[in-house]
Amino acid sequence: MFIRKFVRLGSRPGGGTTTKILICYYSRSGNTKKMAYLIQKGVMEEGVEVDTRDVKDVKVGDLKAYDGIVIGSPTYYGGPAAPIKDLLDKSIKLHGELQDKVGGAFSSSANIGGGNETTIMALLQALLIHGMVVCGDSSDDHYGPVSIEKPNRRAEGMCFRYGKRVARLTKLLHG
Ligand SMILES: Cc1cc2nc3c(=O)[nH]c(=O)nc-3n(C[C@H](O)[C@H](O)[C@H](O)COP(=O)(O)O)c2cc1C
Repeated sequence: MFIRKFVRLGSRPGGGTTTKILICYYSRSGNTKKMAYLIQKGVMEEGVEVDTRDVKDVKVGDLKAYDGIVIGSPTYYGGPAAPIKDLLDKSIKLHGELQDKVGGAFSSSANIGGGNETTIMALLQALLIHGMVVCGDSSDDHYGPVSIEKPNRRAEGMCFRYGKRVARLTKLLHG
């Protein structure tokens, strides 16, 4: 593809060649976790290596090892939950080092109009400030997958296709 021929963005430290995505989530009652594993399925379908990890098991330095970083949070008062915000705040340590990685975000909330899109936008805003390339969609959930509580069939499809989409973009830019 044209873009691939001329644009090959940042490389990982250590010079590894496998394209790799991290899906990092916080989930108190399991809904966002379910979304994370549905997104993982989509990524795997594209043949891209993926680690899906609870935010408590992610150290900020780990982020450097990935070509794509997808972050999921339940919606708490219209924004990301504290453990995710904490990771983002700590990521200032890496400021400048995450440039050109692919980014994505997803959220579960209790209500339609309960702030899931503002949560996603807050996450994407942080990733954009890191200089990451974020992935929107013209027909599926535009900013990233949303689910009302536990993912239903609609949300399952959104998550799976989002995983494929993020994986394809990551391969395009970093494969
Ligand atoms: C502290 C707190 C704040 C919440 N704030 C919102 C909110 O602003 N809007 C909303 O729709 N749901 C809100 N919820 C509900 C959760 O976003 C929702 O239950 C979500 O599915 C939980 O995801 P989890 O199972 O991954 O923890 C809140 C829940 C908690 C515990």
